[in-house]
Amino acid sequence: MTDIKDYNLLNNNTFGISEDCRRFVQFDTVGELRSLLISLTPADSPLLVMGGGSNLLLTKRFEGTVLRSNIKGIEVMECEDSDSVFLRCGSGECFDDVVAYSVEHGYYGAENLSIIPGDVGASAVQNIGAYGCEAKDIIHKVEALDVCTGETAVFSNEECRYGYRHSRFKGEWKGKYVITHVTYKLSKNFVPHLEYGNIIAELDKRGITNPDAKDVRKVIIDIRNAKLPDPKVEGNAGSFFMNPVASKEKFLSLLSDYPSMPHYHIDEDHEKIPAGWLIEQCGWKGCGLSSEGNMADGAECKAAVHSKQALVLVNKGGATGADIVALSDAIRRSVREKFGVDIYPEVNFL
Ligand code: EPU
Repeated sequence: MTDIKDYNLLNNNTFGISEDCRRFVQFDTVGELRSLLISLTPADSPLLVMGGGSNLLLTKRFEGTVLRSNIKGIEVMECEDSDSVFLRCGSGECFDDVVAYSVEHGYYGAENLSIIPGDVGASAVQNIGAYGCEAKDIIHKVEALDVCTGETAVFSNEECRYGYRHSRFKGEWKGKYVITHVTYKLSKNFVPHLEYGNIIAELDKRGITNPDAKDVRKVIIDIRNAKLPDPKVEGNAGSFFMNPVASKEKFLSLLSDYPSMPHYHIDEDHEKIPAGWLIEQCGWKGCGLSSEGNMADGAECKAAVHSKQALVLVNKGGATGADIVALSDAIRRSVREKFGVDIYPEVNFL
């Protein structure tokens, strides 16, 4: 276990923001976590459970205790149904290592979630998603410790009430549990999900007509790498905003003004509109804010909208949380003014 006072979180957030926390504790086992929770006093509050820090924007020093899981392990558990397998994974495992392990061993269902940054624990909080799949599609159960009592709690997928980038751990259970393990249910039979975006076009380009899971993983890794900035080069937290869901009425009125607007069908009454498209239409792609608060060339700004994917905000070097928040606010204002649509950050502000 690591327990450090006045710890700098620069290497613990992919935005590359330099802020301290009052206390930082990294635990390696469930036992260590339980002892820690039992020993905490009100002086240690508030608590923040942190994963890989890939969905976090630090805006100030955190006057509390950061808890970070280093519980490792990928354990194969047989499933009562012979077509499936359970993988019980420590919350501190890198989620993509689980995806890579699954593809390598012929366990399917996770391949579309390739190279999403972050840890196993966060996958169950955030319901991460990409290319038509979400973590909720493979999560079987979640094990956690109750922060107040240190007792074990086990939740089924249904009990977590997953929605788009949402779960009870982000809502009414926020701060109540620390996740220790997630068990994913994967299939021994490969069923490709290629409908989303340009996966099929990319496979075609490579002359692959009958892809296996390794092909799908490879193509998705290449698509993501081409569009999304590497946090080691330019700090970022992936998609900064969630894609807004519009009522059918609002959607139809926007579509008549912008017939080429991309959209995803949700249900009879709702359509999802890509926030990246809305932001690009407002002229923000590759731009940031000048010191006077006006739109400016991103090359001259510390914080900017990524030039290849407008949903991603990047730290061009030395940006503070406040710089990113100011840019986010300006973008939200212009999207509201131009389209009458509110967009909300997916990233958690601290
Ligand atoms: N688009 C633009 N301009 C842009 C970005 C996107 O016009 O700058 C358009 C694209 O042309 C496309 C549509 O918007 O028609 C959707 O774009 P894309 O497929 O890139 O996906 P997204 O909706 O922007 C979502 C997820 C990503 C995930 C991709 C692929 C959210 C908030 N984001 O992005 O997740 O990788 O789909 O499935 O739902 C993340 O959460 O960090 C993340 C990267």
